[in-house]
Amino acid sequence: MTPLSAEDFGKGFPFQRDISEQIRFLLTAAVRAPSTHNCQPWRFRVENNRLLVYRDTRIRLPQSDPENRYAHISIGFLLHHIDLLGKWLSMAPQISLVNGDEHVAEITFSPATKAEEIPPLVVAIFKRRNRRGVFEDKPISQSIFDEATKMQMPSFIPPEVKVVTDRAALASIADATSGNMKRVYKRRVFRREMSSWITPNNSTRKDGIPGYSLNQPTFMSWILPTVIRLVNMGKVLAKLNNESIASAAAAFGFGAEDSPSGWLSVGFAASHTALTLVAHNIDYSVFVASIEYEDTRKSVGEVFRLHQPLEFLFVAGTFPDEVAWMTPRISIEDKLIPS
Ligand SMILES: Cc1cc2nc3c(=O)[nH]c(=O)nc-3n(C[C@H](O)[C@H](O)[C@H](O)COP(=O)(O)O)c2cc1C
Repeated sequence: MTPLSAEDFGKGFPFQRDISEQIRFLLTAAVRAPSTHNCQPWRFRVENNRLLVYRDTRIRLPQSDPENRYAHISIGFLLHHIDLLGKWLSMAPQISLVNGDEHVAEITFSPATKAEEIPPLVVAIFKRRNRRGVFEDKPISQSIFDEATKMQMPSFIPPEVKVVTDRAALASIADATSGNMKRVYKRRVFRREMSSWITPNNSTRKDGIPGYSLNQPTFMSWILPTVIRLVNMGKVLAKLNNESIASAAAAFGFGAEDSPSGWLSVGFAASHTALTLVAHNIDYSVFVASIEYEDTRKSVGEVFRLHQPLEFLFVAGTFPDEVAWMTPRISIEDKLIPS
């Protein structure tokens, strides 16, 4: 089970046990990191004070992630979560990227002896959810943008991070990405893959996107995968996508070199941005399926005035309600590769 709050996690932390057990416990919170379709594309090996992070090659998304770009971005989010938790627990995490297709990073730690006061971004790890819907008309202050876009990176090449807030730019991102959405949903193979990751509200599955996180009541959550598979819902989804992006207070675009290390650094930076927003009670929605086609990626990248290819996009703002749900996670035992 992943812990439900930073306090619970801190209380349960095995300060008296050996470092490899401490690292395994740290992972139970780090995997709160978001991932494409909640597919959790990571695996781990723990060797004394060393954590080896792998891409989980058992998971394949040939339609939504043929190049493994989003798998690497998700692992970048995870590395940032590991870094935040390790620093809080005075474990001095040292992250280095490994240039492998499967083996992507190594992190060394010192033993945890005590937890400092819980930092706001660690609290945000447990408060964060990928929300979906129409935002309230409420701006975000410049000081929050500054905090969200300035970060200390480990030994990665930092990505470009750009924010747009003007209505015309948001509307043009909304239009471009909605057009893209209609195109992807025309493809039956895409719909089949997408639908296989949507799960009913009371499912016991530990991965996938539960209907409740798509704002669906239980009955709809049961039929939604079949509907998505059989019916082209592109127009309806494009309209929802358009309304959401156009109503947001801001859109964040991340640009980097098209390579595994570029994607990992995008994920790391995007995690800092997202958690900083959440720490200030601002919600966010990721829109990636909507930049699937090269021409859309290019035109949206131009709206952000990025010099490098657009790799990741999310919008942020405030939702009128709060939610209590948390999407599930696969247990760490099932993600550990035996040493
Ligand atoms: C790389 C990446 C791509 C994603 N793409 C989309 C997307 O296109 N549309 C969407 O609604 N959510 C997207 N998400 C959000 C995930 O579906 C969400 O993080 C996951 O279901 C886990 O839920 P949680 O973030 O609430 O914990 C993406 C997340 C990541 C990290």
